[in-house]
Amino acid sequence: MQTLAIIGAQWGDEGKGKITDLLSEKCDVIVRYQGGNNAGHTIIINGVKTVLHLLPSGIFHTHCVSVIGHGVVLDPNALLEEIKEVALQVKISPSNLKVAENVTIVTSFHKLLDIAREGSNSNKIGTTGRGIGPAYQDKVARVGIRLKDLMNKNTLTEKIKLLFLEKEVLFKNLYPNVKVPTVDEEAARLFELGLLIKPYMDDTFNYLFNAHKENKKILYEGAQGILLDIDYGTYPYVTSSNTFYGGIFTGAGVRNGKVDEVLGIAKAYCTRVGEGPFPTELMDEMGEKIRQKGKEFGATTGRKRRCGWLDLPLLKYAIATSNLTSIALTKIDILSNLEELKVCYAYKYQGEQIDVISPGLDLSLVTPLYKDFTPFKDDFGADFKPSSDLQKYLNYIESEIEIPIGILAFGPDRKEIKFLKKYF
Ligand code: GDP
Ligand code: IMO
Ligand code: MG
Repeated sequence: MQTLAIIGAQWGDEGKGKITDLLSEKCDVIVRYQGGNNAGHTIIINGVKTVLHLLPSGIFHTHCVSVIGHGVVLDPNALLEEIKEVALQVKISPSNLKVAENVTIVTSFHKLLDIAREGSNSNKIGTTGRGIGPAYQDKVARVGIRLKDLMNKNTLTEKIKLLFLEKEVLFKNLYPNVKVPTVDEEAARLFELGLLIKPYMDDTFNYLFNAHKENKKILYEGAQGILLDIDYGTYPYVTSSNTFYGGIFTGAGVRNGKVDEVLGIAKAYCTRVGEGPFPTELMDEMGEKIRQKGKEFGATTGRKRRCGWLDLPLLKYAIATSNLTSIALTKIDILSNLEELKVCYAYKYQGEQIDVISPGLDLSLVTPLYKDFTPFKDDFGADFKPSSDLQKYLNYIESEIEIPIGILAFGPDRKEIKFLKKYF
């Protein structure tokens, strides 16, 4: 295997950061290709916790080159702050970090608009407030600012003028209380930040193309999860990028047009931050217990994550959309020693049974059907082997999803993992 993708198979926060960090050890290049600093990928090394938002989760391996592809939306200030923080632990230089010259920039206007919209809208999405949606909106509207635009102050000012033209009217009429910078102020700010990022700026498409040609091992690290995909997710309660594996092709580029394996990361239960339907959500004590035990609070915003049982109609759908070839089942330790254990195997919808959802299905109208399991009581110590109760649970999931569970994760630390399949 030369190329592997790691994709969130639920609503994000499945443990992608931990798995990417671990598998990076065997890779040469780690690539982020969509999303922005709405992501929060946690890595714990020797008890030290770092949450990465923009930097790929291979950054702690000094032999790896980290690439931020053009499909990402980049808040330059957030990137520089993150580099400063991570540089306390590991050297970051243009030889191990490369940022696409045509990556789209998240401006102050985007962030302010995101926050203003969420604050005033009764149909809010529950965004992270990082300006992600408005930045992608401008990219698609063809008025986006790209990293290389930050290098020339005159043309940058002209481009910001164009970007601000319609927004000025919006702010004035819909959000008059928001204090917005002037075009010149924003141009000056971005120009200065651009100078600081310039050393990392590169033609990442050709860098990746050549890396592949030289037989380098490449790992593509997804952000968010398939159910938050703009096309395949639970629209409109989604993020604004393609989080399914197609995002790799638009957001970074793949030589030979083929990713060898696609590893989906799934928690042994489900969580969701923000608004939107969640069929297996537990609104009771059990939901609270899983939240507390699993420390289910957002890595980016600190918000409570909603918790519920594992949902196979959604997981099977995620597998179908993204050609997943195996999954990593994470946080199984959180389900150990519970009083009950359930898996949703299908939905009831308009009198019919649905085993795998389709993209248009309104999840707020389905009734989940559950299978009960004998709760397992594993303690996941050294040389952990699943108990027979846990094995039954795992066998059931594997037989339903029809792809192997290649990894079991049972704690936040690097060591708390069992590989059942070889990667790289
Ligand atoms: P990501 O966005 O997919 O990288 O995931 P997050 O970092 O947002 O959230 C996952 C959380 O679970 C982090 O706090 C991790 O440290 C933690 N974690 C990852 N895998 C496991 C596991 O197997 N067990 C436990 N208890 N925690 C885990
Ligand atoms: P990682 O990479 C979980 C959610 C937000 C909101 C919706 C839209 O850590 O898994 P946005 O700010 O993107 O416009 O918000 O998407 N969301 C995430 N939820 N994990 C994430 O990233 C998320 N990134 C965005 O909560 O519901
Ligand atoms: Mg996260």
